[in-house]
Amino acid sequence: MNRLFAAIAVSLSLVSLVLAQAGEINVVPKPRSIILGTGKFGLRKDTKIVVRDEKGKLSANLLNEHLFKKYGFKLKIVNKPEKVNAINFWPIALDKSGGYPDEIKREKYSLTVQSESIQIGGTYTGDFYAIQTLMQMLPAQFAKEAFLPAVTIVDSPRFSYRGMHLDVSRHFQPVEFVKKFIDQMAQYKFNNFHWHLTDDQGWRIEIKKYPKLTEVGSQRPETMLERNFAPYKGDGIPHGGFYTQEQIKEVVAYAKARYITVVPEIELPGHASAALAAHPELGKGCAVADYKFEVKKTWGIFKEVFCPTEETFKFLEDVLDETIKLFPDSPYIHIGGDEVLKDFWKESAFVQELKKRENLKDEHEVQSYFVQRIEKFVNSKGKKIIGWDEILEGGIAPTATIMSWRGMNGGIEAAKAKHDVIMTPNDFVYFDYGQGDPEFEPLNIGSYVPLQKVYSFDPVPPELTTDEGKYVIGGQANIWTEYLKTPQSIEYMAFPRMLALSEVLWSKKEDRNYQNFYERMLAALPRLDKQGVNFRIPEPIDVGGFLLNETEAYAFEVRPPLPGAKVYFTKDGSTPTENSPEAPQKISVFPVGDEVVTIKTIVVLPSGRKSSVYAATFMRGKMLEAMTVENPKEGVKFNLVVPDNESQNRSGETKTILLNQFAMLADLKKDLGVQYDGYFKIPADGVYQFQIESTWDTTLVIAGKKIIDESGTSANVKRNAILPLKAGLHPISLRYNHRGGDSTFRFRWGLKGQGLRQAYGSEFVH
Ligand code: ACM
Repeated sequence: MNRLFAAIAVSLSLVSLVLAQAGEINVVPKPRSIILGTGKFGLRKDTKIVVRDEKGKLSANLLNEHLFKKYGFKLKIVNKPEKVNAINFWPIALDKSGGYPDEIKREKYSLTVQSESIQIGGTYTGDFYAIQTLMQMLPAQFAKEAFLPAVTIVDSPRFSYRGMHLDVSRHFQPVEFVKKFIDQMAQYKFNNFHWHLTDDQGWRIEIKKYPKLTEVGSQRPETMLERNFAPYKGDGIPHGGFYTQEQIKEVVAYAKARYITVVPEIELPGHASAALAAHPELGKGCAVADYKFEVKKTWGIFKEVFCPTEETFKFLEDVLDETIKLFPDSPYIHIGGDEVLKDFWKESAFVQELKKRENLKDEHEVQSYFVQRIEKFVNSKGKKIIGWDEILEGGIAPTATIMSWRGMNGGIEAAKAKHDVIMTPNDFVYFDYGQGDPEFEPLNIGSYVPLQKVYSFDPVPPELTTDEGKYVIGGQANIWTEYLKTPQSIEYMAFPRMLALSEVLWSKKEDRNYQNFYERMLAALPRLDKQGVNFRIPEPIDVGGFLLNETEAYAFEVRPPLPGAKVYFTKDGSTPTENSPEAPQKISVFPVGDEVVTIKTIVVLPSGRKSSVYAATFMRGKMLEAMTVENPKEGVKFNLVVPDNESQNRSGETKTILLNQFAMLADLKKDLGVQYDGYFKIPADGVYQFQIESTWDTTLVIAGKKIIDESGTSANVKRNAILPLKAGLHPISLRYNHRGGDSTFRFRWGLKGQGLRQAYGSEFVH
């Protein structure tokens, strides 16, 4: 055995796990109660399905459809009792009113496998979920018989609202993919599909009364190329698309057959550029008269906002009226309400007049007035509104359900005010956020929400009492598609994180165990592969930064994360290919002196699909000790030097390291030098990565070590360095020398392998 030493193992993958054993119940989400029996049931082609009523027939047909898809055959359906070689769907007793007492009971089921037969008990919905469980338990291959272990499962969900959101405005997605996504939701027992149909970059729902919404609002001439905000660079490719009302009905019916409610979102009063490009008259009275509204080609928060005129309310009521008719089974209409910039309202004589007339104190109250008028209309049609947590500002609409996305605070406030809450906090369940090292992951919006973080999500935060917690009706992950153009890219971000969320929302909190989940998730991946889902392939090694002491080697196991997968690796920093060495069981690393060794791996599935690069970086030495600073003040000292105009030279203190703070002092397109000095706050011991993205020359010194020192060109370049640091304050000096043209200067940092983000001013002191 090698002696191993790793001072820090930034480890998120559980690579040493053995795949779950055959015979275990590898079901996701974990059922409420599982009691293993003895023996096994062999499903054969002559097994019969026994039904006793209409419910049973429907469920039997559904099971047959699944069996046909999986094994290519259907079973005979009979209505006479069979003691052996049978799957029985039992009728269930309704309550006295003839209905099911509540949603949760409606979703409950029991599934008993004995060696002679299988018994399934539940409502229509319960049977549906029992079939999802059964299909996960059946082996991939059928050879004369497919064996199921004897077991009694009794199952029901923890939350009544189990949601997935999909933004089809930023990038339109075809109906076929939406259906595939719904199939996957059903497989993991989600029951609400939040369809984000309108936003600045495209209006995607046909409204018969206003055809321009889709004629104009669903099209944009091009989209920003990658992340080229400034200077803007477009891809030159027109993008567009919308769903006809017939297609929407088709999707709603498809979802309904899978016990999924589709909740449409019509964004208001902000995120309205596409609607306003089609109907500029609805922004007039707020924006200046000749304001040019357009379907946006970039991402962010825009000033474009509906003007709260009677004409606008009439328009929105018409739109909502048609929308409500298309989604008859949804108790909710989501009206957005997030990220509304109030600039146009503040400048508008009309809005100022409205404030006086309606006694509204500020523009937040104008937003509240806007939302409450819409709420009244939606309520009058027998529906309730959902809004993002910003609708709490300026006074909450009386019957609104709050979708808390800026963390959980909005949800906590709403639950305390006795409003229903759906938790979708960005730091746990934004599936557009990165899952790994941004150096290797496909381009995404940034940040870092790995699988384990999703699994650690609890929709009921400790700030709520038991009674307040009851207002949390569930949770949801959101998939915003700014950087996700294709179904494959959406699936990459959704899976396997969706499996973790399904367990958060369905399974008992007391049963939460990441290691156990991870094993069941691994067992689910070959099935997802067969279903053509482009999930993110699990890491075959512990990724991240590792610090070794002076003398020791690091040896680790590399295991294919899935049966039949191959792992290839390099030790010289190059990107592995299928021609690189195939991983042996163990790799050993021995950095010499200051050498930094990076092991890069890729995984290739039996289907030929390749993973992103997963890397582990090793270095020697000690973590650098933190310093104490007397009377620290937030921010850094700066020194600005303008060689061609010394009168513009400045030094002082600042709370940001962005260059645009000097735009009023000097011409940022001419030669200049900026240096920032201070201390950087490191939150925890670890191997950190620092990155400067810049044009021209840049230097980064941390704790006396010059870790970046390069001259650049007019092109953006990212420079990276890593350093092991103890928690606390470390001296930092950042220098940027601009030599003309457009400038870029960004400082990002993070634990190695776990995503990078821009540093806040509050993370520096001097
Ligand atoms: C949101 O992410 N703006 C709801």
